[in-house]
Amino acid sequence: MASRTVSWLLARSISSSGPRSALLSRGKKLGLVSRGGIHRYNSTAAAAEEPITPPVTVPHTQLLINGKFVDAASGRTFQTLDPRTGELIANVAEGDAEDVNRAVAAARKAFDEGPWPRLPAFERQKILLKCADLVDKHNDEIAALETWDNGKPYEQAAKVEVPMFARLFRYYAGWADKIHGLTVPADGPYHVQTLHEPIGVAGQIIPWNFPLLMFAWKVGPALATGNTIVLKTAEQTPLSALYVARLFHEAGLPEGVLNIISGFGPTAGAALASHMDVDKLAFTGSTETGKIVLELGAKSNLKPVTLELGGKSPFIVCEDADVDQAVELAHFALFFNQGQCCCAGSRTFVHEKVYDEFVEKAKVRASRRSVGDPFKAGIEQGPQVDSEQFEKILKYIRSGVECGATLETGGERFGSKGYYVQPTVFSNVKDDMLIAKDEIFGPVQSILKFKDLNEVIKRSNATRYGLAAGVFTQNIDTANTLIRALRVGTVWVNTFDIFDAAIPFGGYKMSGHGREKGIYSLSNYLQVKAVVTPLKNPAWL
Ligand code: NAI
Ligand code: MG
Repeated sequence: MASRTVSWLLARSISSSGPRSALLSRGKKLGLVSRGGIHRYNSTAAAAEEPITPPVTVPHTQLLINGKFVDAASGRTFQTLDPRTGELIANVAEGDAEDVNRAVAAARKAFDEGPWPRLPAFERQKILLKCADLVDKHNDEIAALETWDNGKPYEQAAKVEVPMFARLFRYYAGWADKIHGLTVPADGPYHVQTLHEPIGVAGQIIPWNFPLLMFAWKVGPALATGNTIVLKTAEQTPLSALYVARLFHEAGLPEGVLNIISGFGPTAGAALASHMDVDKLAFTGSTETGKIVLELGAKSNLKPVTLELGGKSPFIVCEDADVDQAVELAHFALFFNQGQCCCAGSRTFVHEKVYDEFVEKAKVRASRRSVGDPFKAGIEQGPQVDSEQFEKILKYIRSGVECGATLETGGERFGSKGYYVQPTVFSNVKDDMLIAKDEIFGPVQSILKFKDLNEVIKRSNATRYGLAAGVFTQNIDTANTLIRALRVGTVWVNTFDIFDAAIPFGGYKMSGHGREKGIYSLSNYLQVKAVVTPLKNPAWL
């Protein structure tokens, strides 16, 4: 189902590509003008429209500790802003070290004394299934909160991400009663078994690009294996987690099992990473912050840390490519979610034989990407999450121009309000330019030319990152060569961004440690205990 929902998005994206004339007339409607060969958006068209009133109110702004919504101990709040306008959505309780202490104490008590780890696995499974049912029931409100706080298209949130969230909890509910150890043969008269035990209190820190899915990837396996949790949301997007966590309590999750702290990284996040009573830490975010939390984990109680960090993923278009299809897929690989994906195909390598045609078509495709209020039907791209990301992206665009890359389309803010950025395409990008090396995390496609397979393998791997790669070819030998040579955690061949609950995800090199989703994530939340008992007069060994 999850892959069906992503395919829906992909299919919608592909079916929206029509003949050139149709594209141009649609471009006109969007206010596209062409100057000196560069397609530019007419900003005033977007500015004139008033933002659509979100079809939801904000139900929760407090911290969730021990099953209750409470204010921060300090009484402080912070603002979460609407990325469409930069205006206030709500003031949210600002958790810091003292609140983290309270939440960890609640999680500790729930683990050491509460029912959750002691429930028959089948009972935990039933509660997780009920959580998924309640999320389905409130699909549209949850999606609306996610769009409001993050800026992603409502259709994407409602039709893809919230259903994937529910699917992931059903997947892990399925595992809950199938987790067990082994009976192990020993060299002497011993009965040896392994017990797979929950690890205890899990600390989890998530980012803002997929607030709900990052919650699911972390909370799903941790709950299925009987752990308790303190989760810190990203300061840009605190709202949806509070809503779903409340639903989880309605579904029967005991108090203290899932605690949610809204707040900032250097205060609440650092307190969680360095807490002596947190038994495991899972983090998703930037490589820089990943290094900090790994160090905090090591310096405190040496808790195991899984890290899902940044990327600069190659998307390789081979010489045999159907250019129209390759353009569409490469476009999706980069521009999906406003370009705010750790695995975005942000280095588009195109074989020299098809390069010129590809660049021309990629430019046209990007310039007719529909940008606007994410609550509006048919919108492909909303605003970036906040002013910091918005400014960072515009800075990278300036650096691309200054370094001599060719700006084919876009390059400026879209409209005059909020954090919208024009879909931007650079060609003639060289490997040593910042736009080819750094994670831009925005709607900026960098197209690079290559000649042969060995060259593109070397260049693809010449990065500190190793999260994902896209390969576009009909030649099975080429595909197989690339699949094995690319030093990345995921290779998508003739597709991209397929995120089923069962498919493991994670990085090589500085894209992180460990895998999330699938069977692999269960081991992040389990201890393996070996138990040895002598056997007296065994009938067999
Ligand atoms: P970040 O990595 O600083 O933030 C991610 C999470 O870590 C948030 O919950 C934040 O509050 C927390 N955090 C920040 N500093 C912390 C600290 N000292 N101790 C503990 N937790 C801390 O990412 P940020 O600042 O939001 O974005 C910066 C860049 O990171 C983006 O431009 C993008 O390139 C990359 N990024 C990558 C993501 C991914 O999915 N791999 C997600 C978000 C950002
Ligand atoms: Mg926000």
